[in-house]
Amino acid sequence: MSEKLGRQDDFVKPAPARGDEQVWTTDLTSSGLRPGTETNEPSWPCGRNTYMIRAMPGDLYYGDNLTVMRRHIAPESIDLIYLDPPFNSDRKYNWTHKASQSQHDAYRDTWTWDDRAKHTFAELVGEVPGGSRVPPELSALMLTLKKILHPGRKATLAYLSMMAIRLVEMRRVLRQTGALYIHCDPTESHYLKIVLDTIFGADKFENEIIWQRTPAKGLSTKHLPNNHDVILGYRKGEDRTWNSDAMFVPYDLDALDEKTLKKYQARDADGRQYQLTSLLNPNDDRPNLTYEFLGVTRVWRWERPRMQEAYDQGLVVQPGPGKVPRFKRYLDEQRGKPLCDVWTDIPPINSQAKEDTGYDTQKPLPLLKRILALATKPGELVLDPFCGCGTTIQVAQEMGRQWIGIDVAIRAVDVIKDRLDEKWKPRVWTEYGEPTSHDEAEHLADTNHYDFQWWAVRMMGGQPPKGEKKKGGDGGKDGEIIVRHEASGTLRRIIISVKGGQNLTPDFVRALDTTVRHEQADYGILVTMKEPSSGMRDVASDCGRVPWSELKDGKLGQRIRIVTVAEILAGVVKLPGKNETPRSQSSPPPPEARVGETLHLPFPTISKAKQRRGKALLPSDAPPPAEKRAKKKS
Ligand SMILES: C[S@@+](CC[C@H](N)C(=O)[O-])C[C@H]1O[C@@H](n2cnc3c(N)ncnc32)[C@H](O)[C@@H]1O
Repeated sequence: MSEKLGRQDDFVKPAPARGDEQVWTTDLTSSGLRPGTETNEPSWPCGRNTYMIRAMPGDLYYGDNLTVMRRHIAPESIDLIYLDPPFNSDRKYNWTHKASQSQHDAYRDTWTWDDRAKHTFAELVGEVPGGSRVPPELSALMLTLKKILHPGRKATLAYLSMMAIRLVEMRRVLRQTGALYIHCDPTESHYLKIVLDTIFGADKFENEIIWQRTPAKGLSTKHLPNNHDVILGYRKGEDRTWNSDAMFVPYDLDALDEKTLKKYQARDADGRQYQLTSLLNPNDDRPNLTYEFLGVTRVWRWERPRMQEAYDQGLVVQPGPGKVPRFKRYLDEQRGKPLCDVWTDIPPINSQAKEDTGYDTQKPLPLLKRILALATKPGELVLDPFCGCGTTIQVAQEMGRQWIGIDVAIRAVDVIKDRLDEKWKPRVWTEYGEPTSHDEAEHLADTNHYDFQWWAVRMMGGQPPKGEKKKGGDGGKDGEIIVRHEASGTLRRIIISVKGGQNLTPDFVRALDTTVRHEQADYGILVTMKEPSSGMRDVASDCGRVPWSELKDGKLGQRIRIVTVAEILAGVVKLPGKNETPRSQSSPPPPEARVGETLHLPFPTISKAKQRRGKALLPSDAPPPAEKRAKKKS
């Protein structure tokens, strides 16, 4: 366990039971949150919201960051927070799977003054009993913002409420020496700055960095083009980590700007560029620095021995007889150009670039490298609570910083895992938030059907289908798996259809059969949350068997099969061959299942997850809520 985060026992305390649930929570004294506080925010996607699990470096959370921070991140444990939240752009963002060019919803940046927003606002203004304790100034600010924004700009009020409640939590988890950098754009940067001034204190404001995102395109005719983002920096305490060495941009010797070229136009015999600079001391009254050198008496910058040493090294030159000697300053020995708060030298990601993951709104690696170089030291802990496809995480890992990432989009977390696996072996991440039990899978199916489908397809070792995949499915095809039939060496294609709902009917089986035929695939697998009816199994059986003589097991030969989530979680699903689904950003490593063998699931079942986390991390061996309730009843 990391020393940085303190001892587990210090942090996780059982709170008084609420209803029939045991709620575990942090010692939240610094935020004023009371143990066991429930919020109106979207819950942990798979419903694992009755446990307090301690966040550790290398943890990747699929979930809402408010819930994750409240339940899992210790106060004053984080050195740097970089967040790149939605900007209130009223847009939908996608992730384009690079290998297949299939497009998937990533997240929506549209805000409405709905019940959830109203509840968050009520919490911010202290109207929710037992809700977060927020600074009174923030409550006052939110009430004022409501007066200004409520009539015509409710979306902005909803957005700012969402951000404010999270920023309170971010300040709580920051160390006294920590800092926060929030990436936004001119749509909301001015409002966010007031919110941040109120939460952190205006005296804790460090910088407003302007990042020129793209060159101007000249498409805008009525006003100037918006081509910059804004990054606001705040520190928590009086002092914070800062590396002044990182405040220089190294010169690119092959692409020097005109001014630098002009300054360093002289070249040595070996081609090194230099300029001659003054060796005179601006202070006239320095007797110990006043002496004659190369026939010239002046007040020098250095005492004689140092001057002589520099001369012997060829660094002091006299431009002509009797002329004042000067210092030879080599360009390649300079720290670089001093960095200012307007950054124009970091281009956006080119779609052909290796780092491009296809995730809309991905930020370039050099941008994060610069921020982490300025504001963290090796070994420090960086949190990205809106981590998208994981740019911060990759940079933190590369730079020897520890990290924790959170994103509410299951696809984003998938991209990050692939991104990290491509570069680091053994695996550097531990994932939380995806279902590891039947109850959790059911909760995900009930609350986010689209993510449930995605999860189930991946659990089968499959990939989402090629082409546009819209929310709500497309004719029952939610994914596919390619298997190699070992005996014949040929490939077979399996179409996966996922049904999370209660109302299962044989029609789903028929629809999948039609899709399999239409797509000229070999098999169909219907994944169901609930146990299928005998009618469904009969229809599946009537859909026929594959004519492959090698397949002895009648079950395997069945063309349309029904697999339950319970079977997947128990790791007993068999595939008719070795999974050859291309490793991609959407799929886990192909399971090494062979004909007739148990499929080894790419993700751990709950018992494996518990083992992996170890006792120290899963603070309770208490059964999950449903079991617990059942025990109580009995
Ligand atoms: C602008 S993107 C971040 C991009 C990231 N900086 C990168 O380089 O990939 C914003 C991300 O915030 C996530 N997000 C939105 N609301 C969230 C929430 N409440 N909790 C966690 N993540 C959230 C979205 O799913 C999206 O991936």
